[in-house]
Amino acid sequence: MSKADLDFYESEDPIWNPALLTIPVPGIRRMVNLAADLEDVIHLSIGQPDMSAPKHVVDAAVEALQAGQTGYTMDAGLPELLDALAEYYSQRYQRPLSPENILITTGATEAIYLALTATSAPGREFIVPDPSFMLYAPLIRMNGGIVKSIPTRAENNHQLDPQEVIDAIDMNTYAIVLNSPSNPTGTIYPRETVEAIVKEAAYRGVYVISDEVYDHLVYDGREYPSVLSCCSDLDHVMVVSSFSKTFSMAGMRIGWMIASQGAIRKLRRYHMFTTTVANTPCQWAGVAALKGPRDFVDGMLVEYTRRRDRLVELVNETPHLTGYTPEGAFYLFPSLPEGIDGDNVALRMLKETRVCTIAGNTFGDSCSNALRISYSTSLDNIERAFERIIPWMKKQDF
Ligand SMILES: Cc1ncc(COP(=O)(O)O)c(C=O)c1O
Repeated sequence: MSKADLDFYESEDPIWNPALLTIPVPGIRRMVNLAADLEDVIHLSIGQPDMSAPKHVVDAAVEALQAGQTGYTMDAGLPELLDALAEYYSQRYQRPLSPENILITTGATEAIYLALTATSAPGREFIVPDPSFMLYAPLIRMNGGIVKSIPTRAENNHQLDPQEVIDAIDMNTYAIVLNSPSNPTGTIYPRETVEAIVKEAAYRGVYVISDEVYDHLVYDGREYPSVLSCCSDLDHVMVVSSFSKTFSMAGMRIGWMIASQGAIRKLRRYHMFTTTVANTPCQWAGVAALKGPRDFVDGMLVEYTRRRDRLVELVNETPHLTGYTPEGAFYLFPSLPEGIDGDNVALRMLKETRVCTIAGNTFGDSCSNALRISYSTSLDNIERAFERIIPWMKKQDF
């Protein structure tokens, strides 16, 4: 972390809105910046697919540019993409959706930003699993909202106990944030969990904000219980996804939100005042992704399943690490023994073995003894990384 970055986050210079203090120094950036100064580093820290987007998708963006598609689209998004998404979701979950239920955003990140900052306000509580993707809690806290964490554990595959979530709902609860498959744990919540939470939330007038960006990275032929397939209507749900992970389009920045027509109308206005519209040629690439062949996704699933299986074996062979089998995404979040500081371990491991992982405390307070290991890298890199990690861990006196 450079001094300039620290100054930005921690300065007491009165020009900055104090809300910026809720944004932590990002643990991922810190590790990746440190790694950049070292040689021969193997990265198990990567948060995006390690393949390029399919050719027909890239071609569609190039063709759109060449055809002069360089202006703004409609505020809700490119009509062709809205139609394609409505058709795709209606078929996938057998739930009729219309384009008016969808808003195209600049990646899932903007959709999450809109959902959380449009609902968070002083005193309002948001239930969030811990660990979770690092965007949620700061966006809630920035607007004065309160994060109520529900800790999950490696021993339990980081599954969420729906009763614990339900018991945490009180008069001040406004929303429950779900992310399945999860970053950083790779956990998929079973249908019973999602249904129980969504049903109780609707009954109590609480929103479920569901981040489903890994909805296609689901292994072992498992059925994916999207919130969209677990709710009776859209009145209390906002579902977020994007092309970033499914089609390796993270840099093309196209995501979306699915919600009731009323919620979408409200958020369209907010979207106009944040990013105006998403990138036009890349929305055309999104149409091509939805309408094109699925072999890219199928190939990615085969490759990631192989890597996951090997990573699970390697983690099980590693002293001091407790693993489990993640069912989706491309992360494993094993624990170190209770009380061991994952931050310190990740830092020393990077310096002494040149393997870059991300410390658990990046993703919440309950998991400071964990490491996030990404298998979005070649099997060869995974093998080489553990040839370094296992002997190093053997020497640690935890
Ligand atoms: C759980 C989760 N949600 C959202 C995002 C951001 O996705 P996008 O690139 O579509 O903004 C990520 C990216 O790593 C993620 O892991």
